[in-house]
Amino acid sequence: MAEAGEPFACLACYDFTMSRWLDRAGVDLLLAGDSAANVVLGLDTTHGMPMDLAVWLTAAVRRGASRAHVMADMPFLSYQADDAEAIRNAGRFLSEGQADSVKLEIDASFSNLVSKLTRAGIPVCAHIGSKPQQWALSGGPMVAGRRLADSDIILDDAVALEAAGAVMLLIEAVPPEVAERVIEAVSIPVIGIGAGPSCHGQILVVNDLLGMSDSTPRFVDPVADLGLAIKAAGEEWVSRVRARRIGGGVYCSLDSETPEAASSIHPKKSESVRAGNPE
Ligand code: KIV
Repeated sequence: MAEAGEPFACLACYDFTMSRWLDRAGVDLLLAGDSAANVVLGLDTTHGMPMDLAVWLTAAVRRGASRAHVMADMPFLSYQADDAEAIRNAGRFLSEGQADSVKLEIDASFSNLVSKLTRAGIPVCAHIGSKPQQWALSGGPMVAGRRLADSDIILDDAVALEAAGAVMLLIEAVPPEVAERVIEAVSIPVIGIGAGPSCHGQILVVNDLLGMSDSTPRFVDPVADLGLAIKAAGEEWVSRVRARRIGGGVYCSLDSETPEAASSIHPKKSESVRAGNPE
């Protein structure tokens, strides 16, 4: 993770290739987020995120990341119904997904579960503030903790979950002052998303950061316009295909004189290395 005192950079991503590039970029923490339900599966909420798929995506993100901390996001109903089931599911993210930690959207009433997970050797990040898995109950994607009484509850959650063993907090969509109160009150790292600049770490959904989402939360300032770049690339491919001008190298011919090496589908590694790829 980043040097002590230096803010650390986190992103939610969902596959091997994206994870590899973000790891090469120096991103400190990659979350295999349950926002995959929205940006990968096209669902309106995160409620439909399947547990098995979450484990597979975590393993893919892990394979791409040789350096970054990999955090797995526990899907809706993979930990709320029963503690034993929660421990087994969390354990799968470490054993099958090779994650470094798991994240749960919880409040102080889950302290006992956090203690049990910690006792089992599973590092827990407690997601507090606005919790997308709770939006059906809490009125949708709204800023949390705007009233003093609500921000006191968030503060109590943070303190209780740290005391129960959480190694990290993630706080979503709260006024910056609320995040600052939490940071003051706990001694574990606090990752913010839409929670102001004071947090120890900052996270966004990578598709939002890269400008690939049709609408992004107010707190996102995209660094690229990849949606439009992908559209332009798709249009270029369509026109090349229509014109029978598909490009690329010819890899073999019917000529028996062609050397064996030229029959390989892939070029030699030294010929195929892309800019920025250190390997
Ligand atoms: O799944 C997700 O994308 C999240 C965000 C808070 C980053 O949990």
